Amino acid sequence: MDTLGTPNTPHATRVMLLGSGELGKEVVIELQRLGVETIAVDRYDGAPAQQVAHHAHTIAMSDAAALRALIEAQKPQLVVPEIEAIATAELERLEAQGLVRVIPTARAARLTMDREGIRRLAAETLGLPTSAYRFCDSLPALQAAIDGADGQPPIGYPCIVKPVMSSSGKGQSKIDGPQDVAAAWDCAMTGARVGHGRVIVEGFIDFDYEITQLTVRAQGRDGQVQTHFCEPIGHIQRNGDYVESWQPQPMQAAAREQARHIAKTITDELGGLGLFGVELFVKGEQVWFSEVSPRPHDTGMVTMATQRQSEFELHARAILGLPVDTALQSPGASAVIYGGVDAAGLVFDGVAQALAVPQTSLRLFGKPEGFAKRRMGVALAWHDDLDTARQRAKQAAAQVRPRQP
Ligand SMILES: Nc1ncnc2c1ncn2[C@@H]1O[C@H](COP(=O)(O)OP(=O)(O)O)[C@@H](O)[C@H]1O
Ligand SMILES: [Mg+2]
Repeated sequence: MDTLGTPNTPHATRVMLLGSGELGKEVVIELQRLGVETIAVDRYDGAPAQQVAHHAHTIAMSDAAALRALIEAQKPQLVVPEIEAIATAELERLEAQGLVRVIPTARAARLTMDREGIRRLAAETLGLPTSAYRFCDSLPALQAAIDGADGQPPIGYPCIVKPVMSSSGKGQSKIDGPQDVAAAWDCAMTGARVGHGRVIVEGFIDFDYEITQLTVRAQGRDGQVQTHFCEPIGHIQRNGDYVESWQPQPMQAAAREQARHIAKTITDELGGLGLFGVELFVKGEQVWFSEVSPRPHDTGMVTMATQRQSEFELHARAILGLPVDTALQSPGASAVIYGGVDAAGLVFDGVAQALAVPQTSLRLFGKPEGFAKRRMGVALAWHDDLDTARQRAKQAAAQVRPRQP
């Protein structure tokens, strides 16, 4: 797009977000800065991105008819999925009819919607290195896959079980021996987003560290799509959910090159325009593909402190067909602030103390309701020394104390 419009006028450039969490909120803010008219959709009222968009709508995004009706009524030029649980088959039909362009593509949204589509594509079609894995529909099938009683090589112990439809570690657990198998199956059945009882069991990879390789597909001056890489982001996950991230993660040259090769391979295959978060495990020079988000990544919130163009600005620019610059400005870190309590309308004590930590900044997402384990904000820090940045991000995050009013 070489020409952008004015919001709320006939020539507005209209972008609809499907999912309006903290990542979508930052994408909307970046689009607003370019005068794009934004429509934020979520399944509950008052979601973070809805608070900063021109228009807000609340629907069940997994309901194909409701999704089509809203898109036909609102007529956005671009539809930007922010979450996985949406009626992606309907998006494919809308895209095929030429009614909207889905970011990065409707097919990519469908393939990354559950763990099976993307894992089979990465491992079986593209031949990328991944953990050993199997998909199972029952507890006996899970046990058989671990033991190799299904005629295939055993997954063995330790291994990890995850519902095929889930995120942020929900329903995920590690199995260390036969005694854990039934509990892991039950955990997956209660944590799954939709109630079909299918899991992936993966061989446990004893990695040295894990990274998110942010990768941007953006239009070059010649109109061709070019791939740009951000510096690798290191992170720590607790119970399958990110608690801390930093950039750049130091890497051996061979691993860094392999990470970019894997990221290029998977994003070339998914196609379209936009930013992707490619999750990789690294041990020495060895790199495994884990999963990919065709959108900004939670661990990438650190880029609001480390890059001139954050992952959100990169995504906004790329989807609009504008040039991008992925250069690092300063090393930095992020640390998550959890709700700590289950209550609506939380208040946050200690904000001034947090921001008194030098070279830090804060995002409070404005979620109307908090849960003990819900991510409510993030502290950001930048410093030439990575360890200092990590210390300060954690220090600032610890100062913020959410509570019931
Ligand atoms: N096969 C594995 N081996 C070792 N650790 C794993 C494996 N799969 C997942 N993990 C750990 O669990 C985290 C969450 O898993 P992931 O598949 O990314 O789920 P989600 O979609 O919920 O983010 C990973 O970032 C990693 O720390
Ligand atoms: Mg993940």
